[in-house]
Amino acid sequence: MDNKDFEPKIIAFVCNWCTYAGADLTGTSRMKYASNVRVVRFPCTGRIDFMLLLKAFAQGADGVIVSGCHPNDCHYTAGNFHARRRWIVLRGLMDFLGIDIRRIRFSWVSAGEGAKWAQLVNEHVETVRELGPYEDYKKAADYLKEGVYNG
Ligand code: FES
Repeated sequence: MDNKDFEPKIIAFVCNWCTYAGADLTGTSRMKYASNVRVVRFPCTGRIDFMLLLKAFAQGADGVIVSGCHPNDCHYTAGNFHARRRWIVLRGLMDFLGIDIRRIRFSWVSAGEGAKWAQLVNEHVETVRELGPYEDYKKAADYLKEGVYNG
C-alpha cells in the first residue's frame, strides 16, 4: 500500500483538565483537523499506566499521543512530571521491543490551546503516515501476555 493512502489509527491518552478541554475547544471553535484520533480521557497524565500505550499498539494502533497540562499547571501538582519520567523509561522499552519511538508523541496542551491540539494531531498523523502501518503488533502483544520478548 502506498503510504499516502494510509489512514493511521491514533489513540490519544489525555488528561481531563487541560488537553481534553483543549481538544474540546478545537471542536467548539470549528477548527478542522485530522479525524484519525480517538481520545481516551484520564483524570491526569500521572494516572496513565504506560502499559496501556503498549496495549494500544498490541490491539492495532499505529500511533499514540500522550498529552496533559503544561509543567507546573497539573491539577494534582506533579502528575505530569511523573508521566514524563515514565515516558523516559517507556522509550527504552519501546527500543527494546523494536517499536519506532516516533510512533508516540508526548506533549503539553492547555485548555486554551485548541489550535495547538489540532496542530499536534495533524503533525502526528503525518509522521505516522510516513512510517506506515504498525505491523509488528504481535511483539507488543507477546510482551504484554508473557512478559517476555520473542524478538
Ligand atoms: Fe493535567 Fe495532571 S491534571 S496533567
